[in-house]
Amino acid sequence: NEGALWGGRFAGGPADALAALSKSTHFDWRLAPYDIAGSRAHARVLHQAGLLDDAELKDMISALDQLDEDVRSGAYVAADTDEDVHGSLERGLIERAGTQLGGKLRAGRSRNDQIATLGRMYLRDHARIIARGVLATVDALVAQAREHHGVAMPGRTHLQHAQPVLLSHHLLAHAWALLRDVQRLQDWDKRAAVSPYGSGALAGSSLGLDPNAVAAELGFDSATWNSIDGTASRDVFAEFAWVASMIGVDLSRISEEVIFWATKEFSFVTLDDAYSTGSSIMPQKKNPDVAELARGKAGRLIGDLTGLLATLKGLPLAYNRDLQEDKEPVFDAADTLELLLPAVSGMIATLTFNTERLESLAPQGFALATDIAEWLVRQGVPFREAHELSGAAVQLAEGRGVELWDLSDEDYAGISAHLTPQVREVLTVQGSLNSRSSQGGTAPAAVAQQLEQLTVQLEAA
Ligand code: ARG
Repeated sequence: NEGALWGGRFAGGPADALAALSKSTHFDWRLAPYDIAGSRAHARVLHQAGLLDDAELKDMISALDQLDEDVRSGAYVAADTDEDVHGSLERGLIERAGTQLGGKLRAGRSRNDQIATLGRMYLRDHARIIARGVLATVDALVAQAREHHGVAMPGRTHLQHAQPVLLSHHLLAHAWALLRDVQRLQDWDKRAAVSPYGSGALAGSSLGLDPNAVAAELGFDSATWNSIDGTASRDVFAEFAWVASMIGVDLSRISEEVIFWATKEFSFVTLDDAYSTGSSIMPQKKNPDVAELARGKAGRLIGDLTGLLATLKGLPLAYNRDLQEDKEPVFDAADTLELLLPAVSGMIATLTFNTERLESLAPQGFALATDIAEWLVRQGVPFREAHELSGAAVQLAEGRGVELWDLSDEDYAGISAHLTPQVREVLTVQGSLNSRSSQGGTAPAAVAQQLEQLTVQLEAA
C-alpha cells in the first residue's frame, strides 16, 4: 500500500490485526505540524550535503508548505491505511512532489529519530502553555493574599488548631509550591532542548548531514551527542510527566482545602456560582466540582507518569516499538492540565472568604499555648518547664470549658509565679502574629516582605 514505509522484503501485507495494533495516527496526528517542520529542516541539510540540488530543494519546500497548509485546514488527513503520522505525511508529500522527489526525503533519517525529536518539540510548546496556566493560578492566590492582608485564620497541623496564621501566609504557601513547579518546567526545558534528529535508526547517518543545523532550525539548543541515547531515551518525557503530576498534586492539595472550607461546618469560603455546580435531586446543593475534579485528575496525572515509567523500565537499547506507548500519557498529561488550570485559577480568583469567621476561630482550641510557653522563655524559664506550665493552663481551661484568656490572674499565678499578668500581652491573635516576625514567619511585616520576594521570583519566571 502507498502509505507503507516498508514492504520490500515482505511477500504479503500485514494481517488486519497487526495493522490495527500498529496504528498510531489517531493519537500521533497532533505531531503533524512538527513532523513537517522537521522535514523542511531535513531537506535543507540534504541540500547542504549535495543530495538535493537547488531546484529540488525549492520544490521540496513548496510541496511541504502546501502539505502543511492542507494539514492545518483539514484538507489532508490520515488515511485508514496509514500506520503513523510519519508514513502518512510521506504519502502526502509524494502526492504533492511526485514519487521521484518525494522519495528522496527519507534519506538519512528514521522514524526513530523523528519521533523522539517531534515529541520534544510538542512538549516544549505545551510546557510553556502549562507554565502560563500555573502562573495564572499563582496570580489568583497572590491577589487573594493581597486583598486579605492582615486577616488571621486558624493555622493547623494534623488538621487540628495549632497556631494563628495570616490567611495571606497560608495562601502564599500554595503560591510558592506552584512557583517551584513553573521553575521546574523551565529547568526541564534545558534537557528537552537537545535534538535527536540525525541519530537515524540508532547509529547516526553516513550521508554527511549536519544535526546541529536541523537542531537550530527546530529551536533546539544543540543536537544530541549520542545517537543511541537520542533515539532510545524517554527520561525527558518521564520528567515532563513527573512535573505534570506534581502540578496536579499541588492543585489537588489546594482543592482539598477549598472542599472542606466550603462545608457548612467550616464556612470559611463561598464559591462563586460560576465555579459551582448543583444537584439533580437536591435543590439546595452548591457543589465544589472544580476542586473535586482537580483532586480526581491528580490521580489521572500520576497514572500517566507511572504508566510511562512502567513502559520504560524493561527496555534494552536502542529503539523498541514499546516506545510508541510514550505519547498518549504525556499528551494526556498536557491536555489534562490545560483543561484544569483555567478552571482552578478561576475558582480561586472568585472565592469569597468569610473573614469574620476566620478571625474569630483563629485563637480557639488553645492556639495561643505556644505563645505562653515562648513568653516564659523570654522571662528566662527553660522551654521544657515553660511547655509544662503552659500545658497546665490548657488543662485548667479545658476542664472549665473556657479559653486561655478566660483564666484569671490568680489562676495563672496559681500555676506558677512566673505567670504574671503580663502574660496577657501574648494572649491575643495580633500579639501572637506580630511576634513571629523572623524571615518566613507569619507576622504581617514578614508576610509583606515575603510577598515582595515572591513577586521578584515571579517576574523572573
Ligand atoms: N510510530 C512509532 C513511534 O511512535 C515510530 C515508528 C518507529 N517504528 C519502527 N518500527 N521503527 O514510536
